[in-house]
Amino acid sequence: MKLAVIGTGYVGLVSGVCFAHKGNEVICVDLEQYKIDMLNRAESPIYEPGIEELISLNKEAGRLEFTSNLADAVRRSDIVILAVGTPSLANGEANLSYIEQAAADVGKAMNGYKIIMTKSTVPVGTNEKIKDVVSQHTNYSFDIVSAPEFLREGSAINDTLHPDRVIIGLDNAGLRETMVTLHQVFTDKIYVTDIRSAEMIKYASNAFLATKISFINEIANICEKVGADVTCVADGMGMDKRIGSSFLQAGIGYGGSCFPKDTNALIQIAGNVDYEFKLLKSVVEVNTDQRFMIVSKLRESLGQLHGVPIGIWGLAFKPNTDDIREAPALEIVETLIQAGAIVKLYDPIAMDKFKERVNHPNIVWCSSPQQAAEGSDAVCLLTDWEEFKKVDLVQLSSVLRKPVLIDGRNVFTEDQIQSSGLEYYSVGRPRMSGWNRDKVEA
Ligand code: UDX
Repeated sequence: MKLAVIGTGYVGLVSGVCFAHKGNEVICVDLEQYKIDMLNRAESPIYEPGIEELISLNKEAGRLEFTSNLADAVRRSDIVILAVGTPSLANGEANLSYIEQAAADVGKAMNGYKIIMTKSTVPVGTNEKIKDVVSQHTNYSFDIVSAPEFLREGSAINDTLHPDRVIIGLDNAGLRETMVTLHQVFTDKIYVTDIRSAEMIKYASNAFLATKISFINEIANICEKVGADVTCVADGMGMDKRIGSSFLQAGIGYGGSCFPKDTNALIQIAGNVDYEFKLLKSVVEVNTDQRFMIVSKLRESLGQLHGVPIGIWGLAFKPNTDDIREAPALEIVETLIQAGAIVKLYDPIAMDKFKERVNHPNIVWCSSPQQAAEGSDAVCLLTDWEEFKKVDLVQLSSVLRKPVLIDGRNVFTEDQIQSSGLEYYSVGRPRMSGWNRDKVEA
């Protein structure tokens, strides 16, 4: 099939590349010319493992093009995919101006019947608005489809090529076969429903996953007080199929471009119809508080933080991405700077993005985890990058001025810590001296 994808962010670019990889003819469109120039050199404007290889492979095969000419791309396609951003407004609501503009541009460019498929995360009812906007700009007939995207950054290609399920929302049953054909190259699990339900499935899924994370983080906080180990609790809970083991990793809370934005948007969507989503409001509150747990633990261990050098390992909101949007590191670093600490920052790939957002004389930019640790009074691990898991902890303890390691992602095991000489704090696990896994497993 011939597809135009509007927007080359995570969702648009990855979807476009994967549709091309499965044999479709795809034209990816972005208004920002520098992105198109990069993509034409097979360089990706987003960091995503494996994407540049797939771009060059599919470009060379003649199935993938990049352009800033939206009208031309629309005219040469049967299906137009809307994948532009829907960032948060100050009140938490999704900003729909980009998607409305894209819909208008598509309408103006149409030269015949098109299927317009929305992949951006949009509030319930938005696809109907898109329909109105498009029809204001064209007399040609068209159909609207909602096909929300569930890919995760860092594993976006694999998630798109092998999704758990595909959700399709439509109001014209005649489109069912085309949509199933387009997506069944990825999976047989295709759930077709109405447009409003499809829109809601995306928000409800993200809100539920965020709820799991905040739930296990509160259990972790209680575990610390009652002497239980949250990793064992999560393992035991996860063995119940009804609960499932994923998204039960306690830590410093969720960040990224989706969960914070989508939870706030859903609270707002509910509020707009006079429903107070109390549970989700608490999920968001718990997530905000959880970030500051790192600072409390530092204070517990070191006392006052003024003038104290502290190494920070990890700035990205999760590993395998350079994305720092809503990353817990932003607020943690800011709080430490306000307390007068000297923060020595290191991340394998997110340093440049962080530099664009945060700058202060108290920041020391480091080029390795060792440099961030040397002479510091503590190291705080904020992102669970593989690189940190491989650090020699005995050596770490010897280069720190005070051997304090605060592990915000529960990366290290009792065995690793026991021989290291480190004072080790993690999330929801007892101090190592009182940690007896044998007793738990017996
Ligand atoms: C998420 C959804 O998973 C995806 O389906 C949707 O399309 C976009 O939002 P993403 O933001 O890329 O994807 O990352 P994800 O891997 O889901 O992690 C989100 C955040 O939750 C990260 O900050 C991560 O560290 C945190 N997290 C995740 C936990 O703290 N504990 C967990 O058990 C899982």
